[in-house]
Amino acid sequence: MRAPEIDLSKLPPILAYGRTESDLIPLLQKVQEEYGYVPPETLTPIGDQLKIPPSRVQGVINFYAMFYTEPRGRNVVTVCRGTACHVRGGKGVLRVVQKILGLKDGETSEDYQFTLETVACLGACALSPVMVVNGQVYGRMNPKRIETVLVRYMKEGDD
Ligand code: FES
Repeated sequence: MRAPEIDLSKLPPILAYGRTESDLIPLLQKVQEEYGYVPPETLTPIGDQLKIPPSRVQGVINFYAMFYTEPRGRNVVTVCRGTACHVRGGKGVLRVVQKILGLKDGETSEDYQFTLETVACLGACALSPVMVVNGQVYGRMNPKRIETVLVRYMKEGDD
């Protein structure tokens, strides 16, 4: 499936927030809020607005892990691979999630329903092993609970 088309008519009101290079990061955050990532088509308009070359915009995007350059799934599943989760079976959680979603770490499903990613710690070690879906923390995961949670998000996508 192709990447979803982006609506560039939403860009000018966002660009209006920026004047100089010091506005670049907040502007990129606003673009990402709107599109879910920073589409390559926006780099030149952003650079023009801030009077900097698109390569400078790209450089900043590459530097900060918080910016995404490709569309992500409507549901972002984050599995913790930190130490506390690891000792309580975090590796198994990742294995089960990968199997259910058919994705590896960093991948997005072809229908853009799911993105799978891992992080070093989700800051909820007391609930380990932990996974997060769209910002919602799910603790003390086991295969049954993982399936229950993920199937719920899969069903929402069918509506
Ligand atoms: S190590 Fe997993 S939440 Fe901290």
